[in-house]
Amino acid sequence: MPDARRTLPRNDPRQYDDLAGEWWRPDGAFAMLHWLAESRAALVPAASRPAALLVDLGCGAGLLAPHLAGKGYRHVGVDLTGSALRQAAGHGVTVVNADATAVPLASGCADVVAAGELLEHVPDWRTVVAEACRLLRPGGLLVLDTLNDTALSRLLAVHIGERLPTVPRGIHDPRLFVDARALAAECARHGVNLRLRGIRPQLTRVLGWLARRARGAGGVPPRIVPTWSTAVLYQGWGRRERDQTQTDVSEEGTVA
Ligand SMILES: C[S@@+](CC[C@H](N)C(=O)[O-])C[C@H]1O[C@@H](n2cnc3c(N)ncnc32)[C@H](O)[C@@H]1O
Repeated sequence: MPDARRTLPRNDPRQYDDLAGEWWRPDGAFAMLHWLAESRAALVPAASRPAALLVDLGCGAGLLAPHLAGKGYRHVGVDLTGSALRQAAGHGVTVVNADATAVPLASGCADVVAAGELLEHVPDWRTVVAEACRLLRPGGLLVLDTLNDTALSRLLAVHIGERLPTVPRGIHDPRLFVDARALAAECARHGVNLRLRGIRPQLTRVLGWLARRARGAGGVPPRIVPTWSTAVLYQGWGRRERDQTQTDVSEEGTVA
């Protein structure tokens, strides 16, 4: 299991450079991101207009791309990590090397904004939420998933999760985990009423996957399924209110 913390502090973005070779290995250190990407993409409907834009904040190496195929979006990915963006570009993503707290794209340009496993990695998630909502067209869809700021989340995602081969060690700083109620309140402040649900990997499939992986065999990857509690991992989705006042929305939307 790669140890992303050998020389770098927890959550240091340079860890993603050290782990660059892991992104597209389905059984690699980012395996769970593949399962989450499939689940996130399932919340995204087919585009309702030509030239629809999906902005993927913290896109990493573009793991969402295969799950969006055929839905009719231009997939624009924003990330800080150049080594990840180069891989995303190789998977058809139009990449923007930028901080998700200051995205150089026009307000109201996006039909969908996705922020998968990003908010728990940024020191100021409220600014990212503000940016995500700014980018959305009225009626546009925000889709995200993150880790809750609870003791159970710290136990499962960090102390246990980072000892499994599905999550790199040191990749999380639990002080950045995102309280679900605060997130919903912040989105509402920016005109997006977020629905929340807890999610988790299918446990029996994870056990089978771990056993097969230990034998070096491939197989069906686990799926992410809804669960009753948002206390650990959760998804949020909601549309931007149509009556929000925006001065700089163009009908076509533009990518700067
Ligand atoms: C856990 S990965 C998730 C990647 C991708 N969303 C996925 O689910 O496969 C977090 C990503 O967020 C990026 N990231 C962290 N802080 C960021 C920031 N402030 N702005 C943009 N990207 C950031 C990292 O470079 C990394 O690619």
